[in-house]
Amino acid sequence: MVWVLLGAPGCGKGTQANMLMAQSDMKSYSTGEMLRKAVAEGSELGSQVKSYMESGGLVPDELIANVLAARLEQDGIGSGVLLDGFPRTLPQAQLLDNMLSKNGWTLSGVLYFDTDEALILQRLGGRLSCPGCGAGYHATSMPPVKAGVCDKCSADLITRKDDTPEAIQNRLRVYAESTEPLVAYYQQQGALKNIDASGNADEVFAKVKAVIGL
Ligand code: AP5
Repeated sequence: MVWVLLGAPGCGKGTQANMLMAQSDMKSYSTGEMLRKAVAEGSELGSQVKSYMESGGLVPDELIANVLAARLEQDGIGSGVLLDGFPRTLPQAQLLDNMLSKNGWTLSGVLYFDTDEALILQRLGGRLSCPGCGAGYHATSMPPVKAGVCDKCSADLITRKDDTPEAIQNRLRVYAESTEPLVAYYQQQGALKNIDASGNADEVFAKVKAVIGL
């Protein structure tokens, strides 16, 4: 079982992936989280990708596909895998097709979180992220119990470096140019599952569970 989570920056992919992991045996692989960890650790990969990420651009296709393939091939897909943030370009979608067929894995479907720009700006504008465990919050719609502190691991919450107004505008432009064409790609394959992502997190989660059959 491999599910792709597709949608604009800030549509709620990470939030839904975390909710799914909490209620199932599925494991989520967020390419954004993997890259942020590499940057925080100061690894060679981190130094290669830092400037792309902070400006809101995409890291090279082969690079991110190799990072993800290495993790998936090491871990296996167990009870199911959620791909949060990959693929993001048509070449990445083709690399994923190859990765799946090489390993005998099947794409169960693509959850497409449909949102509008006003909602995205509102969500990204108030996002708070935990650098420790990766949990996500929102200053008004999903606040932590204690202001500025992660409910799960007590780390101090931060605002991501790519959540500045300039980087958000760039991410939206990159999304429209490079990632949105994947909607048609997966629609043609009959894999696209459209989810209206405009409700609160629990309302969206109910739709996700209905699609996945949880
Ligand atoms: P990545 O981390 O994947 O960023 P993204 O796609 O821009 O997605 P986000 O994490 O910003 O948003 P999300 O949809 O997960 O929303 P969230 O749940 O947090 O990638 C970062 C960077 O890494 C990229 O820009 C690129 O440089 C690089 N990268 C990663 N993958 C790559 C790839 N495959 N190829 C090349 N480069 C790659 O929610 C947002 C906010 O809204 C939160 O505050 C949350 O609490 C709130 N919220 C969520 N759902 C709801 C709801 N239903 N109602 C109210 N509030 C909600």
